[in-house]
Amino acid sequence: MVKSRLVIYKSDRPYQADVYGVSVTFCGCGLTETPPFCSGRHIKTVHEKQDKIYVYDSKGVLLGPVKHIVLENGEIVKPEDIYMVSKATERE
Ligand code: FES
Repeated sequence: MVKSRLVIYKSDRPYQADVYGVSVTFCGCGLTETPPFCSGRHIKTVHEKQDKIYVYDSKGVLLGPVKHIVLENGEIVKPEDIYMVSKATERE
């Protein structure tokens, strides 16, 4: 059985935090190679526009922009809905 999980990130930049006096940069874009830390891969998001959903594979390769995502239950997820979406799907 292969499982797939769709995780949507709204941010296109890292988060800076002070951890016990040390400045740490956490990934906010979801494309990092060194989670939870920023690896600089967020540079791939500089071309992204607000009215599109950008789909990347697990290696950070852009598969393409889409206008919306249709879930198994027929629900349509648009860019403006993304703040509330974190869905997982399972397939055999
Ligand atoms: S914020 Fe994700 S790699 Fe930098």
